[in-house]
Amino acid sequence: MSLSLVELEAVVREAGQVALAYFRDLKNTAIHKKNPRDFVTAADLAVEAYLQAVLTEKYPQYGFWGEESGQSANQASRWIVDPIDGTHSFARGQYFWSISVALEIDGELMAGAVYAPALDDYYTAAKGQGAFKNGQAITVSAEASLADAMVATGFACLRAYLTDNNLARFGRIAQQTTGQRRFGSAAMDLCLVADGQVDAFWEQELNLYDVAAGALIVLEAGGTVTDFQGNPGVFPKQILATNGKVLADILALM
Ligand code: IPD
Ligand code: CA
Ligand code: CA
Ligand code: CA
Repeated sequence: MSLSLVELEAVVREAGQVALAYFRDLKNTAIHKKNPRDFVTAADLAVEAYLQAVLTEKYPQYGFWGEESGQSANQASRWIVDPIDGTHSFARGQYFWSISVALEIDGELMAGAVYAPALDDYYTAAKGQGAFKNGQAITVSAEASLADAMVATGFACLRAYLTDNNLARFGRIAQQTTGQRRFGSAAMDLCLVADGQVDAFWEQELNLYDVAAGALIVLEAGGTVTDFQGNPGVFPKQILATNGKVLADILALM
C-alpha cells in the first residue's frame, strides 16, 4: 500500500479547513434536501471536490467514490469518501460532524481517517497497525456488563426507521443498558466505540462511505464489526460495532 498516513492526515485536515470556512458562515451556506432525511450543503460539495482533486492527483492508481459525486472508473482500489458525515448537524451549527476517508485495495479496507474539524479530533487506522486519536493509540472500552453499557445508535431520530420492530429493538436495548446516545454522525459513532467512549453502536440503511473508515478504526482498536446476527464484516445496511465484551449480550437483544 503506497500511502503515507502522515500525508493523508495533512490532506484530511486541510479538507477540515475547507469545511470550517462554511461552518463559520452558515447563514451564507446553501443547503439542499436530497430526500426527506438527507441534506447536502455547499460545504459537502467543496470538501468532496477538494479531496477528489488532491487524492486522485497524489494517488492516480486509486479510484474515487464520494457520496456526492459518485464513482470514478477504477473501483478495484478506491478512496471511499463521505465529505461531511452529519450534514444535518453541520447545517444547524452543531459540532458533531466529520470527514470520513477510507482506502480500499482489492476489496480490503487498508486505511481510514475520520476527522471532526469542529472538535479538532482526528481518528485514524491502517490495517494491522492499530488505531489512533490525535496521534495517541486508542482501544475499545473494558466494559463487560451490559447493564452498565452505553450504546450509540443512528436509528432514534429517523422517522423512516421508527418501525414497530425497530422501536422494540431500541426499547430492549434501552431497558437492558445504562444509556443511549444519538450523536448524528455514524463515522464518529464508530470512532467513539474505538475510543472507548461508548461500548456499542448500531444502525441500519447506511452506505459504505458512512462506515468504511470508522469500521476499520473499530477493528484496529480491538472491537468487533458485525451484522445484527453476529456475522463478522462491514454491512452498512445493518451494522453493529462493539467493544467485543458486550457483543453476545447485545446480539441477544437485536
Ligand atoms: C448521516 C449520518 C447520520 C446517520 C444517517 C446518515 P450524512 O450521514 O451518518 O448519523 O444516522 O443515516 O445518512 O447524510 O450526514 O452524510
Ligand atoms: Ca447524506
Ligand atoms: Ca454519511
Ligand atoms: Ca455525507
